[in-house]
This record gives sequence, C-alpha cells and structure tokens, in this order.
Amino acid sequence: MRVVEAFSAAFGAEPRTVWHAPGRVNLIGEHTDYNDGFVLPFAVPWGVTAAVTPRGDGTIRLLSLQSGGEPVTIERHEDARGWTRYVVGVLAMLSERLGEPVPGADIAIDGDVPQGAGLSSSAALEVAVASALNDLHGLGMTPMELALLSQRAENDFVGMPCGIMDQAASALCEEGKALFLDCRSLGSRPIPLDLASHGLRILIIDTQVHHEHAGGEYAKRRAECESAARKLGVQALRDVTDLAGALERLQGAERRRTMHVVTENHRVEALVGLLRAGAVTEIGALLNASHLSLRDQYEVSSPELDVAVEAALRGGARGARMTGGGFGGSAIALVAEERLDGVRESVSAAYAERGWRAPRFLPAVPSPGARRRA
Ligand code: GLA
Repeated sequence: MRVVEAFSAAFGAEPRTVWHAPGRVNLIGEHTDYNDGFVLPFAVPWGVTAAVTPRGDGTIRLLSLQSGGEPVTIERHEDARGWTRYVVGVLAMLSERLGEPVPGADIAIDGDVPQGAGLSSSAALEVAVASALNDLHGLGMTPMELALLSQRAENDFVGMPCGIMDQAASALCEEGKALFLDCRSLGSRPIPLDLASHGLRILIIDTQVHHEHAGGEYAKRRAECESAARKLGVQALRDVTDLAGALERLQGAERRRTMHVVTENHRVEALVGLLRAGAVTEIGALLNASHLSLRDQYEVSSPELDVAVEAALRGGARGARMTGGGFGGSAIALVAEERLDGVRESVSAAYAERGWRAPRFLPAVPSPGARRRA
C-alpha cells in the first residue's frame, strides 16, 4: 500500500495500523440531520486511508500524500491549519472524552475522494483517524461513537456546525446498502440498494463549482430551523406533525425551511418504503421532489446544480437531485444503464452551451464503511 510506504519512508518504521473510511453521497434526506430527522446516505468507493503509530511524547506528525508529502509537526493543537485541523480535532476530542491527553501520533494520509465534489472527504478523514486511534488504544468505541466524536471534532474544533450524517455514513455504511438513520435516536438500519439487478445506476454529476459562501449559508439555515422550532414550541422541526397549522404560524424564510424539512422527512420514509418493497425503479419522483424543495423552499441549490438536474432528466434519467449541503458540489441521477450516455451527453451539452467548465461524471456504487486495512 502506497500510504504504508510513505509512512515508513517518512517516520522510519512500519505503521502499527491502517484504516480506511469512505466518503458518501446522500440518496435523500437533505438538511434534515440537524433537525433530528431522517437521512439515507450510502458510502462511495473513494475514501481516506490513515496509517498510524502512537507516540509517547504528545507530538503529532502528519503526512499527506495529497499535500506534497513533507511531514508537518504539531506540538500544540491550536497550531493546526488547513486539512490538519480535521486530524488534530479528532485527537483533541479523544483527549476530552478520556479526560487525559491522548499520546501523540505519527499519521500518514492517502485519499482519493474527488476534491470539492461535496462527497465528504473531511468526514472520511476524521473517521479514518478516529477508527485507527480507537483500535490502537483499545478504546472499544462503537462505529456510532466514532461518528459522534468525529462530528464533534468538526463542530467544536474546525468550527463547521454540520449534522451527523456524513460521519455516520462513513463509519456505518455497508456494501450494497444505504443507511437509514434516525438522527435523533441514532438508530440505523442498512437498506439494500440493489441497482444492478434492475439495470439501474446512480450517476454522480460533479458540477466542479463550489460557492464560497456555503459555510455561512449552512449556519444560517440551521439557525432559521432552530428559530422556527422555538416559535412552534417543538424540540426540533422533526416534531412538526400538523404542517398546515405550523405554516400558518410562520413567515418568510422560516416558513419555507419548515416546509422543506417536514416534507423531506416524509420523502425519506417513502423512499425507504419503496426500497424495502423492491421498487427501486420508482424512487425517481421522490428524488425530483426533493430537488425542487431544496431549490425553492430551502434555497441551497445553484444554477449549476439546477442545470445538471434538468439536463439529466431531459437526457432520460428517472430522477435527479442535488446531494449534500448544496451551493455547488454534486447532483445524483438515477439512470437506466442504456440511458447513461444520453444523460452524460445532455448534461455536458447544457454546460458547454453556457460556457461553463465541463462537469465530471462518477459512478456511485454503494460501498462498505470504515474498515481496517492492515
Ligand atoms: C453537509 C453536512 C451534513 C448535512 C448535509 C445536508 O453535508 O455535513 O451534516 O447537514 O450538509 O444534508
């Protein structure tokens, strides 16, 4: 393994353990996780591999094959910058959890999650490192505990107020399955996603665009949802049962956000019902409805995502939607095998017509979650 060779060359010995954790796409259930709702992501074939050996002196030495290959030494957690914050954040949260400083570590990272595509490379990085440290220190944490620790690293150390979806997907997903997760109880169930036997594929359309304001808008949406829940006297928008009554009591953005979150939770449950009935060919309409709701009610789409979805449908997709946080990143399309070329051509042509950078197409195959590699 390339990461083991790089580790040995930089740190002078073989790593004690190697863990891989994947990125994810979300089939449906967008911006519902931090509203205590439902999500249905699956792991993608790309991820982050972390080779790790503990150190006794508290020092952290980090090497990334994607960042030039020179090791960075971090003596104090607060000195971490850029991508190293996701790793140091995990170590910092582990120390907090254990009530004592975790010993340092030598860590080499190799990743192949397409960058900027919104496929959760940062969650993959956090979960790979957390899983390796859990293993090395014999902490016995469950995959969900590792996901929660990784989320805390991102919330409290990196400062991104994300929900639990990405880290849970990376830690818990199973091959050939999507993960139905209740983000309140944290109960989860693997749901078989048998595309191939129905002659279907899920195509990722990476717009190759990422709008800069995404972080600020994410926090704003979250605050709007929390404010709406307070006005409605519920713990979270997940608890709204009388949607019509709730909408009468809200206005403007809070009204639209509530409309999205409540209907999106129902769409997740409906989609899970269809999958369990073996009706995977029928899920397209729910994907389309989710996209319209994210575009018009939650207002997190972008022209590039809308054009990708519209052109995919014109090209013969059975359904399509933006996936992930929004404001760029990727869309997914459910496509019959014989229509794949038509969909790719339709989206490429729509982008070319507008003079936009060509989109990138990736096959989304439901893949396993975090696992030990050596
Ligand atoms: C980002 C966050 C997730 C989730 C999605 C939107 O990916 O990290 O927690 O909120 O956006 O569904």
